[in-house]
Amino acid sequence: MSYDYSGKTYLVTGGAGFIGSHLTRALLDAGAHVVVVDEFNDFYDPAIKAHNLAPFANHPRFRLYRQDIREFVGLRDVFEHHGRGLQNGGIIHLAARAGVRPSLKEPRIYLETNVTGTLNLAELAREFQVKKFIFASSSSVYGDNPQQVPFQEDQDISKPISPYASTKAMGESLLYTYSHLYALQVVALRFFTVYGPGQRPDLAIHKFTRLIDEGKPIPVFGDGSTRRDYTYVDDIIQGVMAAVAYERSPYEIFNLGESQTTDLSTLIAYLEGCLGKKALIDRQPMQPGDVSITYANIDKARLLLGYNPQTKIREGLPRFVEWYLNWKEMRALLPV
Ligand SMILES: NC(=O)c1ccc[n+]([C@@H]2O[C@H](COP(=O)([O-])OP(=O)(O)OC[C@H]3O[C@@H](n4cnc5c(N)ncnc54)[C@H](O)[C@@H]3O)[C@@H](O)[C@H]2O)c1
Repeated sequence: MSYDYSGKTYLVTGGAGFIGSHLTRALLDAGAHVVVVDEFNDFYDPAIKAHNLAPFANHPRFRLYRQDIREFVGLRDVFEHHGRGLQNGGIIHLAARAGVRPSLKEPRIYLETNVTGTLNLAELAREFQVKKFIFASSSSVYGDNPQQVPFQEDQDISKPISPYASTKAMGESLLYTYSHLYALQVVALRFFTVYGPGQRPDLAIHKFTRLIDEGKPIPVFGDGSTRRDYTYVDDIIQGVMAAVAYERSPYEIFNLGESQTTDLSTLIAYLEGCLGKKALIDRQPMQPGDVSITYANIDKARLLLGYNPQTKIREGLPRFVEWYLNWKEMRALLPV
């Protein structure tokens, strides 16, 4: 029997972001009420975030709060309004400082957002008796572990190699504690490099598309042999929606990837094909914090969530590039 989301209320933190805005659409389409909390920070162009949520502005089941999850008092006000409603829905916590390399420069803001922010939400879930908590974790928690691919959920994650990865591992651990102490049902989802329309501009696919399109050199770290398990955003959303419906255990972790890897040189060749332009390569050394491979074993998510990713990188990339070219034209018309 399929899960009924209608009439339930979900708090989507980071709902103005790339994945959060796709999820907001899916939840609204499924008949749910959606409360978004997002601070619209300038980690990347906030115009993209405003554009992401614009279609829902007048939706009767949509509410938006410009709120920082690090600020407990303001966040608690949101729960004063919606805490009771969330009891039959839940929290889907996507707000974070994302990105590996910037986390080496600003570890404190990563810790405050990704750990203290998560603690604030867990505390409010406890106080307002919210029963369900979905957490966006990351493949980066597996560290640099090429000997142990594909990554499996029960693998050791005690050696993350960037502050970002470390904060995601801490978030998982903190939420385990809340599930144990307060019967909060937690699902942690380890996303593997997500792409598709609206993808963050700092991620390789978006950055390379822009630079190739503009005829500028693309910085390629390493010899092009690093591999990523690229996951199309619609597949991620299917996995998140299934995690929302999942109720069989108090704490569970799932990998959400495609379980297919693509090396960086091949990715660039695909993008050249989509854009009909040749890339100028600016070869640079591997960056600290970067891992050589991510590769998801998704057997557990297939079995318990019915997760079933559909979109191969060769189908998903042209859709991203089409979105990018449209967005570029639209952005040029907006104020700077
Ligand atoms: N995109 C990926 O490939 C990927 C991979 C693994 C994990 N994740 C995780 O998935 C989640 C969503 O990622 P995304 O790619 O959509 O990122 P995103 O940056 O587009 O979205 C995150 C949103 O959180 C908001 N935010 C950040 N700090 C906040 C704060 N203190 N208070 C309120 N809002 C705040 C931002 O304004 C942004 O809109 C993140 O938790 C990220 O770590 C993403």
